[in-house]
Amino acid sequence: MSRTLDLSHNICLIPSLLFFFFGLSNAAYSVVDFGARPDGLSDSTQAFKKAWAKACGSTRAMTLYVPKGKYVVRPINFNGPCKSRVNVLIKGTILAPPDYRVLGQSRTWLLFYGVNGLTVKGGTIDARGAGYWSCKRHHGNCNIGAQSISFIGCNDIVVDGLTSYNSQRMHVGIVGGRNAALKYLTLRAPGGSPNTDGIHLQDTSGVTIVGSVIKTGDDCISIGPGTRDVWIQQIACGPGHGISIGSLGNSIHEAGVQNITVTGVVFWKTQNGVRIKSWARPSNGFVRGVIFRNLVMNNVYNPIIIDQNYCLNNQCPHQNSGVKISGVKYRNIKGTSKSKVAVSFDCSPSSPCTGIKLQDIKLTYNHSPAVSSCSHIHGSTKGAVIPRSCF
Ligand SMILES: *[C@@H]1O[C@H](CO)[C@@H](O)[C@H](O)[C@H]1NC(C)=O
Repeated sequence: MSRTLDLSHNICLIPSLLFFFFGLSNAAYSVVDFGARPDGLSDSTQAFKKAWAKACGSTRAMTLYVPKGKYVVRPINFNGPCKSRVNVLIKGTILAPPDYRVLGQSRTWLLFYGVNGLTVKGGTIDARGAGYWSCKRHHGNCNIGAQSISFIGCNDIVVDGLTSYNSQRMHVGIVGGRNAALKYLTLRAPGGSPNTDGIHLQDTSGVTIVGSVIKTGDDCISIGPGTRDVWIQQIACGPGHGISIGSLGNSIHEAGVQNITVTGVVFWKTQNGVRIKSWARPSNGFVRGVIFRNLVMNNVYNPIIIDQNYCLNNQCPHQNSGVKISGVKYRNIKGTSKSKVAVSFDCSPSSPCTGIKLQDIKLTYNHSPAVSSCSHIHGSTKGAVIPRSCF
């Protein structure tokens, strides 16, 4: 057929592709247009800052676009509030500078602060944390270390399809704010890398975390004080330390944790499965309304654990945890335990755990039933519960 026809076909295709990439905003600021260099060597921090200022200052919803390629970026604050919703669309990889000390002296690397209405879609970020971990292992003066991507005081955020490698400390941190959806994330650091939690939540509410693969050196997901209304579903966790509520009760006055659902998680050789952990110190903190269900444990050291006797450096001699744990359900949890005590409830003598329910549990140890261990706990069971409960 004629060339004219082909050409008109292409002309139609290009705008529709742009529309597909940029969505309704239909307009984007590319970091490359602000001087970013996708060569994996040049420092592109200023270009990212300028592109953010433009996108955030726009009265129409705008896209900050990071095309294919590798961009080196130093610690950067993407500050809000913005005039409209901002989409960050990443096709390329954002790299930390090669010298780990540049990130090491900042608490955060990519920080979104006070932004209301934000989508971060796609992309890979690589903090190149190995130098920092090695410094820590050799007890050097390594500074605080950076979280890779942080959202502090942000509302209505979506993070979709992001990959994070080799964070110095945690990969993703959400502190303050409401309504965050984290989906289809891939978070990876070696099993032995210190304090590389996958996702940390604190003082935040309305968070969903779905469809993600987390292989790291500390908790896959940690839920800190003041966290409410969280839904976690369809996660592969391990290596790592499992999914943890805590550590709680480090201070006397502390906001509680409530309404947390964890469902459809597979744990691979993790230190813990689902854990609730508090310091053995006085506190008015609490945990209530938690459901752990439909979980598979593959060779997990502590599949189900409550530990209220956590203490470091003798900071709590002869004290009990004041954190009150109540209304926690464990349902349909199956698989293998790497230690004989598959279910361990070590609650506080001064504020015992209450309203704990076990239903349809089957955890084995070396092809034989595992055992349970209880202290200061009141609860009930339903269905078959193996190991037999010690309530
Ligand atoms: C509990 O959290 C879920 C989100 O996971 C939310 O839909 C629900 O409304 C919350 N329940 C209460 C009583 O706040």
